[in-house]
Amino acid sequence: MTVSPLIEARAVLRRAARTAATLLGPLDFSLGAGERVAVIGRSGSGKSVFMRVLAMLDPSDGGELLWHGRRVERHAITRYRRSVAYVQQRPALIDGTVEDNLRYPYSLRAYRDARFDREHAARLVAAAGKDADFLSKRASDLSGGEGQVAALIRVLQLAPEVLLLDEPTASLDPQSARAIESLVQAWFDADRAARASIWVSHDPAQAERVGERRLTMHAGTLTDHRETRT
Ligand SMILES: Nc1ncnc2c1ncn2[C@@H]1O[C@H](COP(=O)(O)OP(=O)(O)O)[C@@H](O)[C@H]1O
Ligand SMILES: [Mg+2]
Repeated sequence: MTVSPLIEARAVLRRAARTAATLLGPLDFSLGAGERVAVIGRSGSGKSVFMRVLAMLDPSDGGELLWHGRRVERHAITRYRRSVAYVQQRPALIDGTVEDNLRYPYSLRAYRDARFDREHAARLVAAAGKDADFLSKRASDLSGGEGQVAALIRVLQLAPEVLLLDEPTASLDPQSARAIESLVQAWFDADRAARASIWVSHDPAQAERVGERRLTMHAGTLTDHRETRT
């Protein structure tokens, strides 16, 4: 039996709505279980567009996206997004405390079968190198970096199968960035056979740490470093 990749993009294309300029692709890409991919590339090269298309937050204008070898039907998009979690570059937090933010997903239909686990959340907070009072901080008082930490914990507590991380440490000091890296590593190690991640980074040293497979985005096209090595 062949095992399907977790996610497979076939000739996926994304155009700008207004100008119809090509933003992404057509590109082929596949992400297998156990893979950690790092994506680097200049600002404006299409890294975030790529992540948003994979997360099914933006529609593709051509090609197809397969999940475990199957097309994702409209009714399955909610389940897909629950499994394939996108951590955006500038996370949106709701008013209230960090804990309110961590509780928020459980108020959504998609998570009605799950329950907020405060102890689990507290463990993630500690693993991120934050004090226990982090949970009671007001979201509006957080620094950009702390907001990233809160947004990442909000996603990790839901144990996704795929993590799409869009420059999650861009506004963090090196020490906090390392804490985020180990938090993601712990999530991956908890079920390596079933999980995979794509990490967009502008830091080549970080890309080395967070991905065995490294890709470069250039003008909406991905180059696999393995294929270009001679
Ligand atoms: N919804 C959109 N409509 C039109 N242009 C877009 C849209 N989203 C992104 N772009 C453009 O696509 C290019 C790639 O953007 P992006 O993926 O955000 O780059 P980055 O690699 O820095 O993440 C940029 O030129 C950006 O202006
Ligand atoms: Mg970006």
